[in-house]
Amino acid sequence: MVGLRRAKTLLFIVLVVMATTIANGAKMLTENDKDEPSKGSGETIDVKASGAKGDGKTDDSKAFADAWKKACESKSPSKIKVRKGKYLVKTLEFKGPCKSAVTFEMDGHIMAPSKATPGKPHCGWINFEKLENFNLNGHGAIFDGQGAHAWKINDCAKTGKCNTLPINIRITGLTNSKIKGIKSTNSKLFHMNIINCKNLTLEDIGIDAPPESLNTDGIHIGRSDGVRLVRAKIKTGDDCISIGDGTENFLVENVECGPGHGIAIGSLGKYPNEQPVRGVTIRRSLIKNTDNGVRIKTWPGSPPGIVSNILFQDITMDNVSLPILIDQVYCPHGHCKKGGPSKVKLSDITYRDIKGTSASKVAVKLLCSPGVPCTNVTLSNIDFVYTGKKGPAVSACSDVKPKLKGKMEPPACTEKAKPDS
Ligand SMILES: *[C@@H]1O[C@H](CO)[C@@H](O)[C@H](O)[C@H]1NC(C)=O
Ligand SMILES: *[C@@H]1O[C@H](CO)[C@@H](O)[C@H](O)[C@H]1NC(C)=O
Ligand SMILES: *[C@@H]1O[C@H](CO)[C@@H](O)[C@H](O)[C@H]1NC(C)=O
Repeated sequence: MVGLRRAKTLLFIVLVVMATTIANGAKMLTENDKDEPSKGSGETIDVKASGAKGDGKTDDSKAFADAWKKACESKSPSKIKVRKGKYLVKTLEFKGPCKSAVTFEMDGHIMAPSKATPGKPHCGWINFEKLENFNLNGHGAIFDGQGAHAWKINDCAKTGKCNTLPINIRITGLTNSKIKGIKSTNSKLFHMNIINCKNLTLEDIGIDAPPESLNTDGIHIGRSDGVRLVRAKIKTGDDCISIGDGTENFLVENVECGPGHGIAIGSLGKYPNEQPVRGVTIRRSLIKNTDNGVRIKTWPGSPPGIVSNILFQDITMDNVSLPILIDQVYCPHGHCKKGGPSKVKLSDITYRDIKGTSASKVAVKLLCSPGVPCTNVTLSNIDFVYTGKKGPAVSACSDVKPKLKGKMEPPACTEKAKPDS
């Protein structure tokens, strides 16, 4: 008798536990359904539950690091939730490889300490590294580098050594991943560095630094294949986007750039063993109130290099000095090597449907290298108006004979291109 009653009690307990488990399971599923209908169940880790305060004063670094550790070690896809608030954090490393996919859902903002502590060269403040199937949904989250103090002490334009201040967001070794809806402001140095990535999409990105900030390139990319940057607004004190060696199949679409120095391939040819830049498309974009629009810059006296298969299409320039520029004697601040022309070879470059206003008389300048002249360059439907008082806009060329198609205003190559004009 006693045995039977005990068995009944046991059965009752088992049933209760089962029912609770099923109920919890159902609850988890509906919560997940609400956030991300396509993904199955997985752990959600709230950084506040990990101890973050989100009050803009407390150092929340450890809570983020703990949440990351948990998520990255989870065997099923997991989610890190950052609720509303301002989270003050020092250097963070979201580093893989992880056991399964990790997604960040951010509704709060991230702030750096305002004090500038110089670190290792090319260090980052927020680092995403060696991740596969990583997703970041920022919903407009701001990554505020609080750089004002750093700009005051940053004299790297004079010294040529700029790399000890942190890059706001460093993205290294990401594959099949997506980062969406984030804004980087007031970076101490570059805003975003993308290195060694494959099939990475960046969508709805904001970059914002005052025009007087030094060396705050917007987005720098290098040694990556299949990166897409779609819908971005970039205001900065330097290049909006700079494309370094080893970049292949990079698409930039629906980007607004300015103020800043436009979109640049290069500079290239400063170092030995640089990898080719191939398959870059910049299209459907607006460049406004900048020095330079779209340019390709290579150093004189360089080792051999390759830039090929580049398409600039459907771009509007508004009050841009030198909207279209190839500069193969790029030599800023006189830090130039003597000896010979650039050996970076430019080929298969198309400028199509590019129009707007030029703030300098020279609207198109193709200054190619006498060592390796540019080949297969096409200008198609170019239409610029010079807004100044020194007569109509002009186009200058050297060591290149572009193929011409459609409208050509100013008429192509009526002058010889010279360095620094
Ligand atoms: C690229 O990455 C996305 C995830 O961001 C993934 O859905 C897609 O399948 C990947 N494409 C390839 C060719 O692997
Ligand atoms: C044109 O751009 C320059 C910066 O290159 C800026 O200083 C100037 O105010 C702009 N002009 C207009 C009319 O917006
Ligand atoms: C010239 O460049 C275009 C665009 O990249 C390419 O489609 C074409 O095949 C090239 N022509 C030659 C002769 O290389």
